[in-house]
Amino acid sequence: MPRKLAAGNWKMNGSVAQLSELSGLGHADIDVLICPPATLIAVAANAAETGLMIGAQDCHAAASGAHTGDISTAMLAEAGATHVIVGHSERRADHAETDDQVRAKAEAITAQGLIAIICIGETLAQREAGETLSILDAQLSASTPDNATAANTVIAYEPVWAIGTGLTANTDQIGEVHSHLRAHLTERFGADAADIRLLYGGSVKAANATEIFAVPDVDGALVGGASLTAKDFRPIVDALAAS
Ligand code: 13P
Repeated sequence: MPRKLAAGNWKMNGSVAQLSELSGLGHADIDVLICPPATLIAVAANAAETGLMIGAQDCHAAASGAHTGDISTAMLAEAGATHVIVGHSERRADHAETDDQVRAKAEAITAQGLIAIICIGETLAQREAGETLSILDAQLSASTPDNATAANTVIAYEPVWAIGTGLTANTDQIGEVHSHLRAHLTERFGADAADIRLLYGGSVKAANATEIFAVPDVDGALVGGASLTAKDFRPIVDALAAS
C-alpha cells in the first residue's frame, strides 16, 4: 500500500499571517503537504512542524536563464519545497499549458530530486460526450515522464467540472477513473506503478472525505478551498489517516 497523501493547493490565496493555519497539521501516519503561493514557500518551510511538507504550484522546465517571472526547480528546492504541482487545469486553461510542457516540467522536478504532482482531468463537455477515459489516457500518457516512479511522481485526477464548484464526482465515477488510471500506469510502468499515488481532487471537504477515501485506488486528495484553514483541512487529514 502506498503511503497516503493529503495535499492542499492554496492557489492564489494566503498571506504570512495565514500560515498560522499550518500549525498542528502534520500527521505521523500519512504524508501531509501544503502548496502555498511561491512567495510563502520559504517562510512556510522554515516554520513547518515535523510531519508537514511544503510544495509549489508550478515551475519552469529550464534550470535558469531569461524567463522573466518564472521559478526553477532548484530555486523551489532551495526554498524548502519537496513537491511541485504541474498541469493543474487552471494553468492549462489560464496559461495554455500543453501536455508536452507539463511533461518537461515534471522531468525537471524529478531531476531536481523533488516529487511531481501531475494533474489531469476532463471537462464537463468531455464527460458528457463519453470521452472521459480517452481524454485522461491522452493526458496521462503525454504529461508523465518515462522515468516516473512511485517515489518521484504522484497523479492527481481532478475533473475540471468539480473544481471549486461544490460538485464532487460520485464514488462510482471516481472508482471507475482511478482503477482505469492504475491499469494504465501498470501497463506502462509495470509493478512499481501499484505504488504511484493517485489523488482525487475537486470539492473535497470534511463532509465527503470519508466516502471518497473508501474508494479503491484513491491514495489521498488534492484539496483547494478546504485546505485554507486548519478547521476545514484537519478533518480531511484525519479522515485519510483513518481510511
Ligand atoms: P477545490 O477543492 O477548491 O474544488 O479545488 C480543487 C483543486 O483544484 C485542487 O488543486
